[in-house]
Amino acid sequence: MKKLSFSLSLCIITYFGFGQTAKTGLAIIPEPVSVITKKGEFILPKHVMIVAAPGADLKLVTSYLKNKLTTSTGALVTTKNSAKIPATIKLTLNIKADTALGKEGYHLWVGKKGILIRANEPAGLFYGVQTLIQLFPKEIESPEVIAGMKWTAPCVDIKDYPRFSWRGLMLDVSRHFFTKDEVKQYIDQMVRYKYNLLHMHLTDDEGWRVEIKSLPRLTTVGAYNVNKVGEFGRFSTPTPDEPRTYGGFYTQDDIRELVQYAKERFLNILPEIDVPGHSLAAVVSYPELSVTPGADKYQVRSGERTNVDNTLNPSSEYTYAFLDKVMTEVAQLFPFAYVHMGGDECNKAWWAKSDSVTALMKRENLTTYEQVQSYFEKRLEKIVESKGKKFMGWDEIIEGGLGPNAAVMSWRGIKGGITASKLGHEVVMSPTTFAYLDYMQSDRVMEPHVYATLRLSKAYEFEPVPDSADAKLILGGQANLWAEQVFNFRQVEYMTWPRGFAIAESVWSPKEKKNWNNFYPRVEKQFARFNEANIKYAPSVYDPDFNASVGADSLMHVALTTEIPNLDIYYSFDNSYPDRFYPKYTEPLIVPKDATQLRVITYRGKEPIGRMITMPIAELKQRVERSNRRR
Ligand code: ACM
Repeated sequence: MKKLSFSLSLCIITYFGFGQTAKTGLAIIPEPVSVITKKGEFILPKHVMIVAAPGADLKLVTSYLKNKLTTSTGALVTTKNSAKIPATIKLTLNIKADTALGKEGYHLWVGKKGILIRANEPAGLFYGVQTLIQLFPKEIESPEVIAGMKWTAPCVDIKDYPRFSWRGLMLDVSRHFFTKDEVKQYIDQMVRYKYNLLHMHLTDDEGWRVEIKSLPRLTTVGAYNVNKVGEFGRFSTPTPDEPRTYGGFYTQDDIRELVQYAKERFLNILPEIDVPGHSLAAVVSYPELSVTPGADKYQVRSGERTNVDNTLNPSSEYTYAFLDKVMTEVAQLFPFAYVHMGGDECNKAWWAKSDSVTALMKRENLTTYEQVQSYFEKRLEKIVESKGKKFMGWDEIIEGGLGPNAAVMSWRGIKGGITASKLGHEVVMSPTTFAYLDYMQSDRVMEPHVYATLRLSKAYEFEPVPDSADAKLILGGQANLWAEQVFNFRQVEYMTWPRGFAIAESVWSPKEKKNWNNFYPRVEKQFARFNEANIKYAPSVYDPDFNASVGADSLMHVALTTEIPNLDIYYSFDNSYPDRFYPKYTEPLIVPKDATQLRVITYRGKEPIGRMITMPIAELKQRVERSNRRR
């Protein structure tokens, strides 16, 4: 330890940074609280000694770091837990807690001869390790050993801790099923950016994904639909001869394995059982759950247009007995304190047709269907609490009156979250405006179609604590990836990154350190790391926005703008593929009268960096007409 402190002190402090700059060459995401860069660099030796001391059980962190270093550098890594051994990398738990660091903060020193990470808790050391990895060259992300590299990290002194304790991503595994191994990959990607919560949307109209042993039909029937490819929501109605073999579910052993995998990476899994709406898979499995006659003929949705009752009957004791069984097993499977019970977008029109619901309203003195949902949610809250869990739901659960201890996830903007916090309820912010990862990232002609767009720069504006909210009740924030149009795991990655970087920084870094001009160069550095790691990301940040209008000259004008500066856009109207020897965009283009398409590509200097975009002129005309109609 003495030896290590001595060598650390040899590094000469040259720069006190308040935000990483191009000058320092650092590109850490999320931005740490404080970064001091120093002269000199650490060179990883061929034999690395990781020492975790004193005596604490830091095996999770050391084996994670060992694995990371051996995989790409091929270094011989030994781990020991004796303080007396000279260390290359030393991980130490503070004997006396450093209160500024809290449970997840860390203090990382990189010196010429050694590295030291201190924290109050193992989670802090784990996040220190994540930062350390980002200090090494991008090749450290390689899944294979790269020979002949000099593995250097700049000398730094970084003090860091999160702004929020709830830093989440939601993955919808119902609309499309992602395997246990894919979920593990997602967790691995998340923890690099210091996320600590994976919300799994386990049930919906298209599939029930968690084994409930007392209700086997949920997964023998409810986990499968027809494999359709194309644009979800517009699929043909399944015919009886189409096999219902698409989908899958997690066995209880799978869930335990995932929970353990997550725990070893200091990440919690929040299960969501979405009721009383979005429940078609449950209704198909157990039609007695429905108020609507004929529900026994329903089928799990495969993405076709449909108008069937996907709600649970709030007036039937069968429903609550069902939910009690589900909750008994869910509560045992997932150790996290909260269970998310959905509550969104319940189509109450089905309830309005039911005599049994009318009788319930009379008996309970309920005058609106929002109050009926509130009655349902309050009973559900009691079931959840009887299993020792905290109840959470989407912000619709506020509408008819919130249960006493309900926590709210605010998705329809931030209003629900503000209201709930003022009523004294815990809140997680996850508004569509900034945090919906299913939205398109670029122009509609470039992306699988969804009804809205969320650009990276907009996601970066995410601020989980609005002025009028009760800040102490805002647990944090998360982004949600709904998977209707996400058919495979590469697309999960594409939709998540880089917007997941923006959200990570919004929930970890100090508010005053967020800065777009400083952020996007770091994003580009992370792209290079993802290229090494074989992780897909969206390059949409290089795609321009197209703004079409009709000028006073009655001709169509197209303005092109990019999210990041210093890009050159080259274009053509003659159907050929532009390169950097084509006309460069400098001012709004006037579309030639007979042109049928505008093609553009972005360059940085001599390098094509954006995608070739083909924009039909007819599409631009439609946009102008639509916007004129809206005026
Ligand atoms: C939601 O997006 N329906 C919560």
